[in-house]
Amino acid sequence: MLSAVERKIEQFIADLNDKEVVALYAKLPSGKRLRAKLILKIAGSSLAVVKTAAIVEMIHAASLLHDDVIDDAYTRRSKPSLNALYGNKTAIMLGDILYSKGFLELNNISPDVAKIVSNAVVQLSLGELKDVSLSKAFNLDKEIYLEMIYQKTASLMEASAGVAAILAGKDKDAYMIYGRNLGIAFQMIDDILDITMDAKTLGKPALHDFEEGKTTLPYIYLYEALDREDALKLKSLHGKRLSNDEALWIKAQMQKHHSIEKAFDEAKILAEEAIRLMQERGEDALRDIALAMIEREF
Ligand code: IPE
Ligand code: IPE
Ligand code: MG
Ligand code: MG
Ligand code: MG
Repeated sequence: MLSAVERKIEQFIADLNDKEVVALYAKLPSGKRLRAKLILKIAGSSLAVVKTAAIVEMIHAASLLHDDVIDDAYTRRSKPSLNALYGNKTAIMLGDILYSKGFLELNNISPDVAKIVSNAVVQLSLGELKDVSLSKAFNLDKEIYLEMIYQKTASLMEASAGVAAILAGKDKDAYMIYGRNLGIAFQMIDDILDITMDAKTLGKPALHDFEEGKTTLPYIYLYEALDREDALKLKSLHGKRLSNDEALWIKAQMQKHHSIEKAFDEAKILAEEAIRLMQERGEDALRDIALAMIEREF
């Protein structure tokens, strides 16, 4: 049924009746489509569900177009990012077009669905702004990190699960908690993979977050575990281009102090909580999708 979502997105793009946008959109590989899969798993595949999944994926693609400008990232989904190919101006405007078309189409679903999804995009944008502000300093506050990743990533997953539940006539609140926990775990894993995986596997830059000033959960845990001298060394590397030796030093310290495991265990606990909540409702299929989001390599 994912193919119906793909066709719907193509149709939404074709509706714009603009050759340049159609050509630009064709340059975007489709990605894992996790949010669409989540919606279809919860709500089946009626026309409203397919449309909602297509809208959410368009909105997600818009957020990535802007994110790659924000993060100076030149690879996305194993291809040159749009900002790398055509510059920031084009990437930002294509992002705006996808966001706006998404909002326009939300009006054809239902006021409830429109409200939940657009609120999530407000949260996502607030989260991206917070991510930018936090990266200017060396953030070591885990609570602030958790709030930021909830906003930038989990809000859209929470909304995806919630609107799918509404469309399926299920209890929205439980599904939103599931989506929220899963989304936070998902971003924790994304932050771990930035450290543990190579760029080829990820299809996007590797070991890029710290260079961009982002102190994600493994860095927060590492700093807490280091002695004073090494903690100062880690701090001195923050927000800078890392040499090969510096990158290896960070990875070795993380291994020594189990920083990745600690972060991974935390993500796993959240995912297990999400799974338990859905199992209580007999939603076994939602277990597999949660596990796939955690046990992934890119
Ligand atoms: C990437 O999301 C951005 C984050 C929230 C970490 P995905 O990993 O779902 O990206 P695609 O859509 O599969 O490329
Ligand atoms: C951004 O997080 C998630 C969005 C809400 C767009 P990241 O900046 O870590 O996402 P990637 O690693 O570039 O996909
Ligand atoms: Mg990014
Ligand atoms: Mg980012
Ligand atoms: Mg990332």
